Amino acid sequence: MYTIKPLLNINKTITVPPDKSISHRAVILSSLCKGKTTIKPFIESDDILATLNCMKKLGAGAKLTKKSLTINSAGMYFNPKLKKTPISLFAAESGTTMRILSGLLVCQKFTAIFKAAPSLSKRPMERVITPLKKMGAIISGTFKDDKISGKRDIYPPLRIEPAKKIKAGEFKLEIASAQVKSAIMLASLYANGITTITEPYKSRDHTERMLKLFGAGVMAKDTTIACQPVEGLISPKELFIPADFSSAAFFIVLGLILKNSRLIIKDVNTNPTRCGLLNVLKRMGANIKITNEKNAYEPYADIVVESSQLKATIVEPYEVPSMIDEIPVLCVASSFAKGRTEIKGVKELKVKETDRVKSMMVNLSRAGVDICEESYGDDLKIVITDIGKPKPVNFESFHDHRTAMSMIIFAMALEGESRIDDTRCINKSFPEFISLVKSLYK
Ligand code: S3P
Repeated sequence: MYTIKPLLNINKTITVPPDKSISHRAVILSSLCKGKTTIKPFIESDDILATLNCMKKLGAGAKLTKKSLTINSAGMYFNPKLKKTPISLFAAESGTTMRILSGLLVCQKFTAIFKAAPSLSKRPMERVITPLKKMGAIISGTFKDDKISGKRDIYPPLRIEPAKKIKAGEFKLEIASAQVKSAIMLASLYANGITTITEPYKSRDHTERMLKLFGAGVMAKDTTIACQPVEGLISPKELFIPADFSSAAFFIVLGLILKNSRLIIKDVNTNPTRCGLLNVLKRMGANIKITNEKNAYEPYADIVVESSQLKATIVEPYEVPSMIDEIPVLCVASSFAKGRTEIKGVKELKVKETDRVKSMMVNLSRAGVDICEESYGDDLKIVITDIGKPKPVNFESFHDHRTAMSMIIFAMALEGESRIDDTRCINKSFPEFISLVKSLYK
């Protein structure tokens, strides 16, 4: 149990860890290009270490210092040290590791068994398996009935065998998913022609940006991208990773909901495909400024927030992909907003690390917030109505990092002490979260 005391106000400049999504891609692409690439700063969170461990097992050399990681690699085809086949890889609890890396493994010349920790073993994989099979991949998992949707899906462990040929194709994705898009993009590097992918709405474009940086031919127009096969990738030698907007989001909301506060968060990734929350919060009356804007292969800037009286808004489905991981903390912000907030098109939240619609309903309603889930066509919406001051209670993390951090931020703005059952899960993306929170009380 972790106790959360109320925080009256803040006036500080902080930094949050390097972006998790960009770091996964940095480790993977650095392991595919010939030679050395230094990734700096490097985040040693559970999910990123899961990707790094897989790449090391496949044969990439890795030298970790306190602030950076240097990867030394041999090229597009791995030659794992272990001669016994199949090679066994472990994605731990990282969905991004398993889904994105599957796109790379299907193109290799050895058999791999891709295993997952129990929580990831409950997450659906059909979404990556079907398009990869269309490209000629030989990949399978276990068919089971999904408890939430009632739909049959395919679950880890995955068995991946060498494909005869990887075929280029045209893909129209039913859901906007950067993980699925990225798996197809990695496979398309090995294909026999140009592969195109169209999404219903644009999901985060970190793979597109990083592949271009590594010399691959990627063209993007609206929600369609075209990827060319490559002979090899070229290392940029040094790769700067901006701070994670999804981690910054917790403190952005904290700065807004506390009274008499001002917070500056340094060098945060401001990629528009990730920062949908900023537009929604601004519409809610949030006092947020973006300063010191810089541009590398990804844009980044300092984010300045000041206490604001928020008002409710309606979030449309097209806005959700650019803030998919921030919906829990938006629910926290909405609990302090005047009026009725609707967040439409949130069905995908049910298949994240946990069912985040349920975890927000359980936690926020326990604290006295009027929150409910309603159907919205064949999708769902969350409705939060302002009914006055929420109260401190015992919160449940459901062992999901973003739920735990959202509830801690919420609890810091309440009058009185709250508690939460688990904080260990936060190491998945933000190992320094608790020490950063503690530093805000000093
Ligand atoms: C991610 C994509 C998103 C996001 C996840 C990280 C990525 O998942 O929720 O935390 O790095 O590509 P989906 O692709 O399932 O939307």
